[in-house]
Amino acid sequence: MSLFRTKNLDHMMAQGRAEGGLKKVLGPLDLVLMGVGAIVGTGIFVLTGTGALTAGPALTLSFVIAALACAFAALCYAEFASTVPVAGSIYTYTYATMGELVAWMIGWDLLLEYGLATSAVSVGWSGYFQSLLSGFGLHLPTALTAAPGSVPGVDTLFNLPALLIMLFLTAMLSWGVRESARMNGIMVAIKVSVVILFIVVGAGHVEPANWKPFMPFGMNGVMSAAALVFFAFIGFDAVTSAAEEVKRPERDLPIGIIGSLAVCTVLYVLVSAIMTGIVPFQKFAGVDHPISLALQYANEGWFAGFVDLGAILGMTTVILVMAYGQTRVIFAMSRDGLLPAKLSTVHPKFGTPFFATWVVGIVFGLIAAVVPLGVLAELINIGTLAAFCLVSVAVIVLRKRRPDLHRAFRCPGVPVVPALAVLFCLALMTFLSRTTWIAFGIWLVIGLAIYFGYSRRNSRLHPKL
Ligand code: ALA
Repeated sequence: MSLFRTKNLDHMMAQGRAEGGLKKVLGPLDLVLMGVGAIVGTGIFVLTGTGALTAGPALTLSFVIAALACAFAALCYAEFASTVPVAGSIYTYTYATMGELVAWMIGWDLLLEYGLATSAVSVGWSGYFQSLLSGFGLHLPTALTAAPGSVPGVDTLFNLPALLIMLFLTAMLSWGVRESARMNGIMVAIKVSVVILFIVVGAGHVEPANWKPFMPFGMNGVMSAAALVFFAFIGFDAVTSAAEEVKRPERDLPIGIIGSLAVCTVLYVLVSAIMTGIVPFQKFAGVDHPISLALQYANEGWFAGFVDLGAILGMTTVILVMAYGQTRVIFAMSRDGLLPAKLSTVHPKFGTPFFATWVVGIVFGLIAAVVPLGVLAELINIGTLAAFCLVSVAVIVLRKRRPDLHRAFRCPGVPVVPALAVLFCLALMTFLSRTTWIAFGIWLVIGLAIYFGYSRRNSRLHPKL
């Protein structure tokens, strides 16, 4: 039965309030900004090209389907986050509801999601950065431009800009939340402005003929694209991982999660409609900057340069928030004894998990330097979709086991909404490749080995302690 031992919820909240915990500095606007900061990035700026090739103009529909999956899951998240406002995101919530083993697996799953997402977005960042440099006639040595095997026929070895941006942002994060959140706010404003600029400038160049046929590859194409561009929505859950640093979590967390998701859905649907309205979708083959390409196609080269710059800043904030979420999950798992204690030490001056932040920055920076984007994106999606399924089930479980708990935000329509979340997420997962499923399986097996080899015995809940 010890596999299903749960943490005491009331004790957890006390632990969060205890001295020596993380500083409470974040408000609702910080959270919406943090959400949008985590969400708008490589998905919309890079993966929409592949999405358009897969679904045609019906890419808009793919975004709506992916958004629905996220919306149902977001409602479940919001309930959890407002009930259990302590660090660690759904890892913490499952620990209190479904027991230690499931909590460990979900924490392990989140390490995959947040960690690889920082790597993947650093790779996207690197591509746009190099494209901007080339505008000034500057070029890196080819070997240092990308991971080995990312560009067919080109001898690339190491993605240097991807590693450097990770290390730079790690330094920012390790200095403290407030500073990072402020910088984040400025960059979010810039990237949202750039997306709106694209919508406003692009709308005048739409040729409705490009939208026909709307669904050239049928529902199969729409669903496959949805499983891919789902990536574009990942990040709203990172807001919940900041729970312990929020001033009024019961009210602010639901606002942060649902608000940021809603804003992004509207932007994505408009961007994909306009993009496929300007350029015949077949022209996106092999393009890694589809948004600025659409503007170049419309002879708006000046605006295209702006979009490039905004994309770079946009992706910077995504890396920042993902790395932040990652360190907080590690912090929580370490505090529970499931990971080594050193990872939850708080820096005496900065009040941040300094050591964990640097471990994450270095490990995933190196992964960004040597693994291609395509390999990373699908793995991230499957990990995230699996986590969404679990959190949705957990909402139902917690309602049954702890009906007494104060829920500042209640997910409407339980159990129908959580069931829809599971259904949508599973449906998207079936459209991911076999290789991705196998790799995900291997990751879970490694996680189980660590749990039984280390975490189970070192857990704070272990009877010997
Ligand atoms: N949603 C994030 C992005 O699109 C991960 O980059």
